[in-house]
Amino acid sequence: MEVNIKTLIDQETLEKRIAEMAAELDRVYAGKELRIVGILKGSVYFLCELTKRMTIPVTLDFLSISSYGNGVSSTGVIRFNKDLDDPIDGMDVILAEDIMDTGRTLSYLVDVMKTRNPASLRVITLLDKPSRRVVQIEPWMTGFTIPDKFVVGYGLDYAQQYRNLPYIGVID
Ligand code: IMP
Ligand code: MG
Repeated sequence: MEVNIKTLIDQETLEKRIAEMAAELDRVYAGKELRIVGILKGSVYFLCELTKRMTIPVTLDFLSISSYGNGVSSTGVIRFNKDLDDPIDGMDVILAEDIMDTGRTLSYLVDVMKTRNPASLRVITLLDKPSRRVVQIEPWMTGFTIPDKFVVGYGLDYAQQYRNLPYIGVID
């Protein structure tokens, strides 16, 4: 099948903004014990670019969940596939996502992570589609606010495809 993918945010623009986010994290979390928790698999490309550019000490952990849906949007029914490797009590924790859409995934994960007593807990996302929100949650830091379009690339998939595109695109 021929698919046409139109660039929405090019690589240079993505990486410039991610560098700004890294600098902001360096500033805000200086002297803290920062743990960044990536939500698999979509956040991986974003987190590589982000953490390479940070200069303060930071440790990483990952979790993986499935939200039962049709591949295009989540339903809110969530299952843990992989939990964190290490406890987060007393740590300054950031949950990192590729995109916030309805907000269901992150609102669920924030509730779960809060029960583990981190010193602080914030949410960052590379992309945000606020027009789609059904749960009241706002990221503490966002890379780009985008319109209500289904996007792929830079970690984001459609049926597991296109994650490795070096830009954010819209399937035509
Ligand atoms: P939420 O729970 O509705 O906020 O959904 C977040 C998850 O839905 C993301 O981690 C993605 O896996 C998926 N998602 C939402 N919008 C898009 C999109 O435009 N492209 C690819 N995946 C998306
Ligand atoms: Mg995802």
